[in-house]
Amino acid sequence: MENKIKLICPLCRTDLSKAEKSYVCENNHTFDIARQGYVHLLPVQNKRSLSPGDSREMLNARRRFLQTGKYQPICDNVARALNQYTDSPNPVTVDIGCGEGYYTAALEQNCNARCIGIDISKDGVKMSCSRSKSILWLVATASHLPIKDRSADAAIAMFSLVLQDEYARILKDGGCIIEVCVGSDHLKELKYIIYDEVFEQHKHPDPCSEKFEESECSEYRYKMTLDNSELKDLLLMTPHFWRIHKERREKLESTEKLELTVHYWLRVLKKKKT
Ligand SMILES: C[S@@+](CC[C@H](N)C(=O)[O-])C[C@H]1O[C@@H](n2cnc3c(N)ncnc32)[C@H](O)[C@@H]1O
Repeated sequence: MENKIKLICPLCRTDLSKAEKSYVCENNHTFDIARQGYVHLLPVQNKRSLSPGDSREMLNARRRFLQTGKYQPICDNVARALNQYTDSPNPVTVDIGCGEGYYTAALEQNCNARCIGIDISKDGVKMSCSRSKSILWLVATASHLPIKDRSADAAIAMFSLVLQDEYARILKDGGCIIEVCVGSDHLKELKYIIYDEVFEQHKHPDPCSEKFEESECSEYRYKMTLDNSELKDLLLMTPHFWRIHKERREKLESTEKLELTVHYWLRVLKKKKT
C-alpha cells in the first residue's frame, strides 16, 4: 500500500518530496534513504546523546520477547481501538517510539493502516525495516515530528512518551491518540524479587489537554507464565535490569518459571475540531 503521509524537513520545516534515493526539501536539505529503507530525520541538535534510545541488546531482547506472543492481548486491544476510533479504511497511523516495530507491523496487517514507525533509536528503526517494506520507517524525535500538520488519523504511543501538543499538531480534526502505559501492578512479582522495598504507586495516564476529549480510558490485567529464557529477555528490555543486584539477578537467572501480572492502561484521546 502506498504511503501518502506528508513529511516536513526537520531543519527548516518546509515540505519534503521523495526523489529516487532521498527526500529533499524546498531549501535543498537532503536526507538519504538508507539501504534498509529507513530515513534519518533526526538533526544532531535534537539528539540528547550519541546514540539515543534503547540499545541493540535491549532491542534484541524486546524482539525475542514480543515474538513469544506474551503481549499479543495488548496488541489485539490496540488494533481494536484503531479500528473502532478511525473512520478511514486505511488510517494514516504514526507509531511514535516504535521500538523494533512489533506493534507498527501488527497495525498495518490487522487494520490495513498506512503506517509510519518513528523512533529516536537508529538501531530500533533499522531492525524495524525487516518487519515490513511498505511501512515508512523514520529515525526522528517525538518532540519535533517530521510530519505535516493535520495529516494523520492516529498517533500511537505504546509504552512510549505522549506529547499531546505535538501529536495534536499532526492529527486531523477527529484524529486520535491511542496510548498504552503500564499500570501500578505491572510485573509486580518481579519487582518483589528485585527490590527490598516496593513502593505502591498509583500509575495513571497524564491529564487530557484541552485540545482533546477522552473517548476511552480503561485498565486491563492478565497473568502470563514465563520460562527461564523469556524471563531473562523481559529483564533485559526493562529498566529493572539496570538496577538489579548481582545476587538477585543470579536468583532470577536460575528461576525456571514465574507467573507475572500484566497490568496496563489503554486510553484514546480524540482531537477536538479547531
Ligand atoms: C519502552 S520502549 C517501547 C517500544 C515499543 N513501542 C514497544 O512497546 O515495543 C520506548 C521507545 O521509545 C523510544 N524513544 C525514547 N525517547 C524518544 C523520543 N524522544 N522520540 C522518539 N522515540 C523515543 C525508545 O528508543 C524506545 O524504543
